[in-house]
Amino acid sequence: MNHHRTPLSPLDYIPAGIACARDYEQLAQKFIPADILAYISGGSGHDITLRNNEQAFHHWAITPRIMANLDNANTGLELFGNRFRHPLFLAPVAYQTLMHPQGELDTAYAAASTDTCMLASTLSSVTLEQIAERDHFKHWFQLYFQPRQEDTEALIKRAIAARYQAIVVTLDAAIQAPSIRAVRAGFKWSDAVIAANLIHQPPAACAKDSAGLSPIFQSYRRNAPTQQQLQQLIDDSPLPVIIKGVMHPQDALQLKASGAAGIIVSNHGGRTLDGAPASLPVLPLVRAAVGDDFPVLFDSGIRSGSDIFKAIALGADAVLTGRLQLYALSVAGALGVAHMIKLLREELELCMAMSGCANLADIRVTELHKV
Ligand SMILES: Cc1cc2nc3c(=O)[nH]c(=O)nc-3n(C[C@H](O)[C@H](O)[C@H](O)COP(=O)(O)O)c2cc1C
Repeated sequence: MNHHRTPLSPLDYIPAGIACARDYEQLAQKFIPADILAYISGGSGHDITLRNNEQAFHHWAITPRIMANLDNANTGLELFGNRFRHPLFLAPVAYQTLMHPQGELDTAYAAASTDTCMLASTLSSVTLEQIAERDHFKHWFQLYFQPRQEDTEALIKRAIAARYQAIVVTLDAAIQAPSIRAVRAGFKWSDAVIAANLIHQPPAACAKDSAGLSPIFQSYRRNAPTQQQLQQLIDDSPLPVIIKGVMHPQDALQLKASGAAGIIVSNHGGRTLDGAPASLPVLPLVRAAVGDDFPVLFDSGIRSGSDIFKAIALGADAVLTGRLQLYALSVAGALGVAHMIKLLREELELCMAMSGCANLADIRVTELHKV
């Protein structure tokens, strides 16, 4: 293993030898500097949850079926009154110019060219307006509440003006434990990477009365919305409000009761509470709590089409992929991301064909085998 190699520049073609979506993970090691790679691929703490996220998929098996009718087979779905051709969405991922000079602009281009819904992060390295301009398909805005209410409101107004179709509030990352892997690799933020949506905001005010108080709890208090602020957003928003980072059936029920349009079962790809359960085993518990018809999306650990199949069989309406899009972006920009999406879709369709599922509803009623 050579940690001191010079990273390659992104390609403007799809590299030979990519046989499956996951191959981008391996190849990305040549394109991303070692410290940045540690930041992206790492979880939080000791990566326990990160590892469990992926392993969880191996505990389930899909039974082949051999006499299905697949004449009108398709992967389409409807969510919040919108039609989607496939159930793979691009998870919100911050600061994508870390991986590619065009960052989110290329991701948006890939999303548009593959009919994929992109979730644009509050912490994107280009503005939400620039992303919307590039992406003529559907896009949702991922909101991090800001310490000052007026800054949060300004972001929501901008997202509405730029024709985003949903607001996704991420609630699990008001604080994040550092990734020990990234710290050891010497990862540091460079001044070149900016949160383009937030550059007009004043620097976060340090609370004068915080002397002697835990900076961790203080930081949480600044960045997490109160229940009242969240409820106000849900009540007032003209767009559906979806909550990301749900890992407990009771939280899911509470959010449903509060009028949230949907939820995303996610542990942030193992980047928040290290030691949290994998997202996959939590998914059926959440689905059972909220009932069959409430929109539940899923992420954390998706690396293949059969992973998508399993998540849907365990209760998801659709899934998000986080790191795979970054790896593909680093290798070949928009082309890489579009290619990765195409591969994942093909892998899902193969799985459906061989398990006798003609549509996502068939997958939802498929029983997986615990192995
Ligand atoms: C480098 C990186 C940055 C991320 N930034 C955000 C973000 O800005 N907002 C957010 O809601 N989630 C963010 N996430 C979490 C992803 O949206 C998603 O939940 C996670 O990556 C899914 O797991 P996976 O990488 O195994 O697919 C980030 C994840 C990574 C790896």
